[in-house]
Amino acid sequence: MTAPRHFLDLWRHHATTLRAILDDAKARKAARIGWPHGAVDADAPAAGRTLAMIFEKNSTRTRFSFDAAIRQLGGSGIISTGSDMQIGRGETIEDTARTLSRMVDAVMLRTDDHAKLETLAAAASVPVINGLTDKSHPCQIIADLQALEEHRGPVAGQTIAWVGDGNNVCASYIHAAAKFGFKFTIACPAAYQPNADDLRRARGEGAAVIVTHDLRAAVRGADCVVSDAWVSMSDLDHQERLIAFAPFQVDENLMASAAPDAVFLHCLPAHRGEEVTAGVIDGPQSLVWEAAENRVHAQKSILAWCFGAVG
Ligand code: CP
Ligand code: NVA
Repeated sequence: MTAPRHFLDLWRHHATTLRAILDDAKARKAARIGWPHGAVDADAPAAGRTLAMIFEKNSTRTRFSFDAAIRQLGGSGIISTGSDMQIGRGETIEDTARTLSRMVDAVMLRTDDHAKLETLAAAASVPVINGLTDKSHPCQIIADLQALEEHRGPVAGQTIAWVGDGNNVCASYIHAAAKFGFKFTIACPAAYQPNADDLRRARGEGAAVIVTHDLRAAVRGADCVVSDAWVSMSDLDHQERLIAFAPFQVDENLMASAAPDAVFLHCLPAHRGEEVTAGVIDGPQSLVWEAAENRVHAQKSILAWCFGAVG
């Protein structure tokens, strides 16, 4: 039996695979302009397939985009929270993986513990997809890069500036930098730096990734500025974070030091007045709604790749 095509982290994949997924997402989006959201793509690459979606944490975009995605590919989805399942009362991840592998064709997991995702994938005989963990959020970055390329052309050679927490979303940008050939500058407080192993691996692959505490230096001339919540779902140090991140807000003044036609991205949910001002996220440079929509298109192509229909 061939190994299932898991989609756990961007660093695990060849650049050509990720490029094929991104290009497929653009093509699928273009092919259905004007169609109702529920219409099935002409090639229906997931016809007869079922996707299980397990959420151990809250979600709006990931939940609805994966469900919409599998339907648009001609398949069907089953959504559950972890607490409704037996894993919520101690059944092992391995037994869950073995059971689901006999009932569905792929499993998406959102969890607080990246190790659970890895365990699920190791024990599953069907593809497992990372729908966000404490360590990474790869699906978001494919959708973001799709929006960026749609508005500013090929991402290779562009500079993306991250402002704020060196968190899970930031990690997946680091993983993507060498694969897609963009420069990634990160401005973060000293206590909230990105994972050192992620930085080492990316730089070892030739990625231009810079970490600084000077947000103006990070953003200067950037093609794209990205921020995320100061307090992620797994974070308990709420008050400390609000203090540490106070200087790391993306406002109109900071955007003015990026390239004149720079764009703004944020995975959402956003906190206006904290990591970003309303003027930026609701302003003309913001691509956040395009990127949110692209979660559907990007994940369709990730699913199609998992099912062997792409790449
Ligand atoms: N960006 C993102 O993953 O959003 P949700 O938490 O709403 O799924
Ligand atoms: N960093 C955020 C992303 C939410 C989509 C979190 O983990 O809560």
